[in-house]
Amino acid sequence: MNKALRKAVIAGNWKMNKTRPEAKELVEAIKPLVADAGCEVVACVPFTNLETVLEAVKGSNIKVGAENCHFEKSGAFTGEISADMLAEMGVEYVIIGHSERRQYFGETDETVNKRTRAALAAGLKVILCVGEMLADRENGITDELVAMQTKIALKGVSAEELKNVIIAYEPVWAIGTGKTATAEQANEVCAVIRATIEKLYGKEAADGITIQYGGSMNAKNAAELVAQPDVDGGLIGGASLKAPDFAAIVEAATRG
Ligand code: 13P
Repeated sequence: MNKALRKAVIAGNWKMNKTRPEAKELVEAIKPLVADAGCEVVACVPFTNLETVLEAVKGSNIKVGAENCHFEKSGAFTGEISADMLAEMGVEYVIIGHSERRQYFGETDETVNKRTRAALAAGLKVILCVGEMLADRENGITDELVAMQTKIALKGVSAEELKNVIIAYEPVWAIGTGKTATAEQANEVCAVIRATIEKLYGKEAADGITIQYGGSMNAKNAAELVAQPDVDGGLIGGASLKAPDFAAIVEAATRG
């Protein structure tokens, strides 16, 4: 598989952090540090910060994403936000199927699929999250589970639409725990995801798709992770909230 065929993407997932003034301060601090990035830089932020962050990144190389969207276009879904609402604001990316949504908010492979299709139909780029729980890894079913999550999430997604999909491999046991997958473990599962894409869409699509690693990626371990042949960047939680740490990860992905 040829790494040069695809774009590395470093995306911050701010989760439920930052008020609007804090969001502005963080983006302003990140901007000069990543201005020469050789990879795509994305900040995925809470809905309430989107407008502030979209304004703050104007004229910079930072792209803006949301952390979720609903699968219906509109209607009686109190508290939800549609993909069209995000697209209209100028939001470019959306995270779909994060394990925290699967664990705490009843997200299933089926709703991940519906949200993915809705986001793509609205013209958004999707960061689709997959990953196993610790018990799955201990039971030796990581590869099968991640392949299944990928396959169901992409049901009904065309090869053309797939060009707007990034997959983030996030082992649940590595998220927010300080326990990172080893570079080999990360690469192995990213390769399984790529092989799944090849089966579904062919070699060209598999060679071209960006597959990130996420889970306690930080300024220290990023270089080794992003140097892996099948790891094309990262989805960063905690470390994306500190400008110098996030910038160091972007720098590591720039070096590749
Ligand atoms: P941490 O980097 O805080 O482990 O979070 C990873 C994550 O969930 C990114 O989506």
